[in-house]
Amino acid sequence: MKAYKDRSREELEALKNELETEYKKFQDMGLKLDMSRGKPSAEQLDISMGMMDVLNSSSDLKCREGIDCRNYGVIDGIQEAKELLADLIEVPADKIIIYGNSSLNVMYDTVARSMTHGVCGSTPWCRLPVVKFLCPVPGYDRHFAITEYFGIEMINVPMTPEGPDMDMVEKLVSTDAAIKGIWCVPKYSNPQGITYSDETVRRFARLKPAAEDFRIYWDNAYNVHHLYDDDQDTILEILHECEEAGNPDLVYKFSSTSKISFPGSGVAAISASYNNLKDIKKQMSIQTIGHDKLNQLRHVRYFKNLDGIKEHMKKHAAIMRPKFEAVEEILERELGSLEIGSWLKPKGGYFISFDAMEGCAKRIVSLAKEAGVVMTGAGATYPYGKDPHDSNIRIAPSFPPLHELVQATELFVLCVKLASVEKLLETK
Ligand SMILES: Cc1ncc(COP(=O)(O)O)c(C=O)c1O
Repeated sequence: MKAYKDRSREELEALKNELETEYKKFQDMGLKLDMSRGKPSAEQLDISMGMMDVLNSSSDLKCREGIDCRNYGVIDGIQEAKELLADLIEVPADKIIIYGNSSLNVMYDTVARSMTHGVCGSTPWCRLPVVKFLCPVPGYDRHFAITEYFGIEMINVPMTPEGPDMDMVEKLVSTDAAIKGIWCVPKYSNPQGITYSDETVRRFARLKPAAEDFRIYWDNAYNVHHLYDDDQDTILEILHECEEAGNPDLVYKFSSTSKISFPGSGVAAISASYNNLKDIKKQMSIQTIGHDKLNQLRHVRYFKNLDGIKEHMKKHAAIMRPKFEAVEEILERELGSLEIGSWLKPKGGYFISFDAMEGCAKRIVSLAKEAGVVMTGAGATYPYGKDPHDSNIRIAPSFPPLHELVQATELFVLCVKLASVEKLLETK
């Protein structure tokens, strides 16, 4: 098939008419589909229902150390939950704090504490004239929302197939003391599904920040969220690499079981150096008497150990894999040779990132919406919701049932074609 850009004005006009007729048919179908949310499907949630049965009124609700989990106490998590989560994110169990139900909440708290009280004794950020964060793009909108909320200036750093552009990161971090952090989703990144290369992780660990209170916000949300048994990404462990590089305090590592067990009812954790953990615990002891130990116990008794989690994740993969493959098949079949969009084929995570022709993303999302398919808003993957190229669209295949996903993707590719033809006709 001839690329759209090589077609004449007459050819494009004829094509536009055809596409509009097809689009009208979709509109007449009265679809109500949702491809916007990175949530597990109900079928995935069903996988974890056994967790609801591991604790009941006759269960022994003491944890291994003999503490009654029904009562107050143990601020940083029961030992067996520390061990489980530490194994999950490949850190020692004494370098972790178990939190409540959401890692995003921990990230918010971390930024909030740095604003009001500073990082390990440094000047609170709220007393500084300007505070900046680096934001690899495209990235996770809720990360950007946190830094925007606190008035932190965000700087876009382009993603490459190896992770963020490290030349840019190194240059900025080492020269600008107002830069206090960088948001990273290092494995199966949101939305591209990119895993940082060994070289990228090592360069992160060797950063020489101008600011003593600069920290890497390493959000390890998708560590075990593979789609394939035999083809999985691996990543170097950043905390260890930072220690080796003589930079033990450089990183906060966040994690949760949100997309392993129940989002919103999982267990979250932060891992960091002893120095950082001490700093965090000072605030925590004011903030709470302790998190939900019964939920920690429930998770440990259900999964037992990392192998239990890995087996469980295979069940998620069996549901997610056909969905990712269905979207990729339609994208390839319908757009493969037209040169009006590109996408990556992630081996894990929750999203497929689509790059349309410059200036087309908003129009595509709006066309899809008018025909009954809700996509993640165009621009959402950039700080301030502003994609400078109006090009990136995040596709979230997890939530709809497969037949709805297929329908939604068929409409999506049609919208991509229509918006691209409209764009090309503007200049032909
Ligand atoms: C990269 C990333 N981090 C964090 C979260 C939210 O995690 P939690 O439920 O632990 O707050 C998500 C959810 O989509 C995510 O994609």
